[in-house]
Amino acid sequence: MCGIVGYVGPAEAAPILLDGLRRLEYRGYDSAGVALGNNGSLEIRKAVGRIQNLAQLIIDEPVHGNRGICHTRWATHGAVTRENAHPHTDQSGRIVLVHNGVIENYEKLREELEREGHVFQSQTDTEVLAHLIGKYAIQLGEPSADHLVEAVRMALREVHGTYGIAVMHRDVPDLLVGARRGSPLVLGVGKGENFLASDPLALVNHTRDVVYLKDFEIVLLRPDNFQIQSLAGDGRDYEISTVDFDAEEASKGDYPHFMLKEIFEQASTVRDAMRGRLSAEEATAKLGGLNMTPSELREVERIILIGCGTAYHAAMVGEYAMETLASLPTEVEVASEFRYRNMPLDKYTLTFVISQSGETADTLAALRESQRKGHRTLGICNNVASTIARESDGGVYMHAGPEIGVAATKSFTSQVTILTLLSLLMGRIRNLSSFDGLRIIEELEQLPDKVARVLEMNPHLPEVAEKYANSHGMLFMGRQFQYPVAMEAALKLKEISYMFCSGYPSAELKHGVIALVNPDTPSVFIAPDDALFEKNASNIQEVRARKGPVIGVGTEGHGALERITDDVLWVPPAPDYLMPVLTIIPLQLLAYHIAVQRGCDVDKPRNLAKSVTVE
Ligand code: AGP
Repeated sequence: MCGIVGYVGPAEAAPILLDGLRRLEYRGYDSAGVALGNNGSLEIRKAVGRIQNLAQLIIDEPVHGNRGICHTRWATHGAVTRENAHPHTDQSGRIVLVHNGVIENYEKLREELEREGHVFQSQTDTEVLAHLIGKYAIQLGEPSADHLVEAVRMALREVHGTYGIAVMHRDVPDLLVGARRGSPLVLGVGKGENFLASDPLALVNHTRDVVYLKDFEIVLLRPDNFQIQSLAGDGRDYEISTVDFDAEEASKGDYPHFMLKEIFEQASTVRDAMRGRLSAEEATAKLGGLNMTPSELREVERIILIGCGTAYHAAMVGEYAMETLASLPTEVEVASEFRYRNMPLDKYTLTFVISQSGETADTLAALRESQRKGHRTLGICNNVASTIARESDGGVYMHAGPEIGVAATKSFTSQVTILTLLSLLMGRIRNLSSFDGLRIIEELEQLPDKVARVLEMNPHLPEVAEKYANSHGMLFMGRQFQYPVAMEAALKLKEISYMFCSGYPSAELKHGVIALVNPDTPSVFIAPDDALFEKNASNIQEVRARKGPVIGVGTEGHGALERITDDVLWVPPAPDYLMPVLTIIPLQLLAYHIAVQRGCDVDKPRNLAKSVTVE
């Protein structure tokens, strides 16, 4: 996934573009570049590495112009080099383009263009698109707005794959052209100036009025106006939305990292996930966004939960919750597997796709595959204007605010909370009594305060982290509701500290995992004081007998756990189905502090991007 920002207006574009890029750096940070148009000239600056390198380059070699496009890259085709950094130009050097997505047929297009004499400077698919636009622009004649848009249109008709692009022509002043298919692109509406970006996050310092472009739409952007057209050329209506967060929410505030800020937001984001969705009067959850009546929900006999990464782990918790609270058969599937397998789906199956960004390519493909088979498919998303949110047949918004740290934290607890609400709703439609429902609601209403209590332990975590920061790896184990927490905790630590980590059901220890136990590989057991504690305790003893260090995550004051572990991270008591919201938090904090102590870039871990919008 990459980040794009464009500007056209009276101001110097460079500072605006850099400010926007910095807010999009979570989308990719291999290299960055900017192109500025200024009275018949095009100036390009590119730098490998973080956006700060580009900013320094622009200080050393200033560029000016009130029209510009820029890009921060997460490499798909071509190594991380300056040549492969965007923007890319056409053969003439007069047209410049930035792109987020994958041109799947770029090799064939490149061969055809090379046969026509085009010479390429990079290994990227994006440069091929730039040359294709340039080829048609020349065919159309003198540079003009109409010719540039038509050249873009002609080129995109030949493209297979996904794109979110911004294009400029040196000799067509005051115009940016944007287009999208499969990669997000938003138009920022200013006063006497207009913007383009991959995410409204890049624009909140300048405007909160935005238009979310849809697939196969093209936008012509000038300082005082804009037009939206279809790829076929006819005009398109549009709706101006107001971004539901401000610049403050999109900044780190007093926190050293977005990840820590977002971990500490969880008491309020868990509360926001429930806000207006609990009815004590009816002893159930109210989820109007499902767009389904109680009788339609009553017909559901099977649930499928689909996601990637953290969203998949939240789905795993949802499976246990749905079976426990609603006695409803539930299956969980990794999105990239679902989209290619031929899973039997009948008319009594209800499918949910879960995605914080709402742009994950595999999850979007799973949504479309499910709908292609005629199945109602609902979404659980955080980004209300995302492609998944817009294309699903309804769903539940997380209202967690922007999650910028690449490692998902508040999105996990928000998704688990929503899946618990869904389980309550389905349970009350099936076999849960109003008494049961009320008891669950009371437990849910206490949850945010319990989250806040767990967060108070943060000052103790650096000391624990220091003991284990240089371990070779870490094993995470739990049973039932805690098995998905083990998986999620392993993902957290591995993706920000680069340690080898894995999550398992505790009992799998005997089936091979115990071979990994050694004094330099601690095991983390998420072992609350529940019906399976004794089973977990046996596993812990098996690890200790082989000199494996053990960190426990347990229920406050449970001495039996403290006696058999080297360190314990405590959480308040809660029902099994709510425990994952609590037990994951100390492990998010442990991962954070270990990564900091290992000198890793917590918010922008190597090789990763916040949302994987390519397959
Ligand atoms: C988790 O920390 C990672 N950021 C990654 O696994 C992420 O959960 C996954 O890519 C799914 O993202 P989504 O929720 O935006 O679809």
